[in-house]
This record gives sequence, structure tokens and C-alpha cells, in this order.
Amino acid sequence: MTAYDIIMKKRRGSELFQEEIEWITSGFVSGDIPDYQMSALLMAICFNGMTSEETSALTTAMINSGDTYSPSKELGRICIDKHSTGGIGDKTTLIAVPICAACGIYVPKMSGRGLGHTGGTIDKLEAIPGLRTSLTHNEFISVTREAGFAISGQTGSLVPADKKIYALRNATATVDSIPLICSSIMSKKLATGADGIVLDVKVGDGAFMKNYADAEKLAEAMIRVAGLSGKKCTAVLTNMEKPLGMAVGNAVEVVEAIEALKGNCPDDLYDISVTLASEMLFLAGLGSPERCRELATDALSSGRALKAFEKMSELQGGNSKAFYDYSLLGVPTHTREVVSDIDGYISGISCEKTGLVSLALGAGRKTKDGNIDPTAGIIFNKTVGDFVKKGETLGRLVTSSDCDIDAAEKDFIGLFRFSETAPEKIPAVIKIIRS
Ligand code: URA
Repeated sequence: MTAYDIIMKKRRGSELFQEEIEWITSGFVSGDIPDYQMSALLMAICFNGMTSEETSALTTAMINSGDTYSPSKELGRICIDKHSTGGIGDKTTLIAVPICAACGIYVPKMSGRGLGHTGGTIDKLEAIPGLRTSLTHNEFISVTREAGFAISGQTGSLVPADKKIYALRNATATVDSIPLICSSIMSKKLATGADGIVLDVKVGDGAFMKNYADAEKLAEAMIRVAGLSGKKCTAVLTNMEKPLGMAVGNAVEVVEAIEALKGNCPDDLYDISVTLASEMLFLAGLGSPERCRELATDALSSGRALKAFEKMSELQGGNSKAFYDYSLLGVPTHTREVVSDIDGYISGISCEKTGLVSLALGAGRKTKDGNIDPTAGIIFNKTVGDFVKKGETLGRLVTSSDCDIDAAEKDFIGLFRFSETAPEKIPAVIKIIRS
């Protein structure tokens, strides 16, 4: 077997054998296969795709590069995980997971930091003072046992192949390939060993998948790979044509999530979070989808989900007073209120560019190891479908960073599209695909 032959085979559009995929992946991780050969293979995969069997073999080869876990064996109860393909203002984990915990299922969740635009779940959680996201394995299991869920950063030994391959993909314009995204996400999810996985596959301008057809293909590919590994999996296709909810950043998103758990939740965020939680409960076997939705809404409206989040925060070292005094999450040194200079309906808010404004304010990482300003972000006052009058507040920009807030204000105004008539409503949850 040679790397040259494997690259040529994929370049010609043939299907690779499992042994070939395993050999080249483990060789790349050990350093025997150089970057230039792996890059060439990734590009050939980008052009010619992979069958479900090849994608599954790549996922397995990646899983085998690191540690794997079986939390339900340690905890003695079914464990369910959730994953989002990433979007702007996505704080659904901080709502859906406490709901599930309040319904009695375990969610031991390993999450990532942000790859760009805004922070990831770990960055958001770290806005809560004292909250530790680098848990030892024993802590991870014991917090899950006591609170129903734990959220910890991914360790370096979880799928090291993904780290190496993702770095190459980033540098070689091979990120947006469905089998490569699928194996990257599913290797991390399957290595953490949950019994069922709910995927939030975002579709639209602010997502990896810009159109519905690609999002559906990705969702189906991930469900097939989960099935080939014997796991239950559901994909929820959700709208990312506008930022999710009204807050984008880190502390501001934590506040929005806590408010949601207190009963004050924007419609789109509510629909998606409750749907994800219901699907997680359904995979855990808590009844029909309708019954699981009732359980989820009850856990939310009764305040039990908020209590679950407070418990988890306390066990991970967080100052739970911050749940009732948001100033403890940090007070931004600069606030800029931005008003509309015209009357009209908001017909759209550019989603990807919202991420860029948030990044400019300091809420995301400009370089891989850059710092995040936890207080930075955007709080929208108006959203798609709202009518605004000239002089009304569109939103607030907040930051404690040394950034050009005048430029951010100009870009923020440029995010909005206006119309004379109310725009058609796009549902937040587009489709549910169950395995
Ligand atoms: N998220 C991942 O973890 N991997 C990808 O390739 C894309 C999104």
C-alpha cells in the first residue's frame, strides 16, 4: 500500500477500502504520511466525495487515533449528546441540555471553543466567574451524576486525528466537504460514547451549509455514519438566515440563555431549544415525540431546568449569584446604542456579517490562540419581521476591547435589510430527520 496509490485511486473517483483509509489516517497521525500527501487526498475527497462506507471508515479511523469513553457504563444510565454544526448566536446547549437534565436523562457533554466569529459553548460558559471547563474525567462523571449534565472542554486525546486534519483542511480550502465535515463531527461525538446523538444542522447564510439541499445531505450522512456505529441519531435542520435569538457574544448569550430558562425566550430560540431537548428525550426513550415535548416544556416552565443549570455551574466552580446578578458576568467598558435612520419592516439581518461585527467587537478569536473579550457582543432590540420607526433603537454594541466601535456601528447598521411590507416568516425549525 502506498499513499500515492490511495491518492490516485480517490482522484480517479474510485471507492477506497477500509484498510486503505485506516492505514493513511493512522500514518498521517503518526507523522509517517507527510502533510502534502494528506492534503492531496483531502482535495481528491472534496472533488469526488465518499460513500457512506468510506465516510464511516474514515470516522472510525479518526476515533481510533485517541481515547474513547463509555459514560453510560460508568453512570449506569442512558446518556444522550447534542451537537450543533455552528451558527451565530447559538446558545441552545445552555437551554436544551439543562431541560434534559431536569427530565432525568444524563448529558455528559464535551464541547469546543469557537473556530472564528463568536466563541463556542466553552467560551460562553467561561463568562460565568469561576466556572471550570477543564474537568478531570472523574469530575466530569461525578458532575453529570449530581447535576444531570456536565460540560467540559475537549481534551487533546479526543480524536487527535481531527485536530491535525482540520488544520490541513483550514489551510487547503477543503473545509466544506460533506464527508470531511461528517467524519470530523461524528468522530468526536462517537468517541465520547453517548447512546444517542441529536444534531442541530444549521442552514443559511450564517452556517457552514448555505443551502437546504447540502444541509439535508450532511444530516443524512451523519445519521448513516451513526447508524453504521450502532447509535441512534436525529438531525434537526434549523434556520441560520438570521442570528439566533437577540444576543450574539459570550456573556450576553449566557444572559439570554438564563433569561430563557426563567421564561423570557425569543420565539426562534424557544422553538429550536425545546425541539432539540424533546428529540434528546425521545432518543432516551421517554415516550412519544409529543410526550417528550410536554416533558421538555414542563421542565422549562417549572424552573427545574434553571435549577439544573445552577447546580451544574456550582459543581463546576461557577458563582451561581451570577444567575441573578448579571453584572457579575462582567460589565463592558463601552456601550453604543444604535438607532434606525429609516422607518420600515426589518426584512433580513445578514447573519455571517453579524458574526464579523461581533468578532470586531472582541467576542471571537481573530487568531487560533487569540483572546476573547467575554463582555463583548451585540444585543439586538429588533429582529426580522419587526417594524421600526426612525430613531428607534436597533441594538446595542458592547465591548471592553480596544476596537473601532465607530466602524462596528457602521457595519452593524449595514446588517439590516428593510421593506415596506412585513416579510414572510421563516420557521426556526425546518425539518426533523429521525434515524
Ligand atoms: N465542525 C467540526 O467539528 N468539524 C467540521 O469539519 C465542521 C464543523
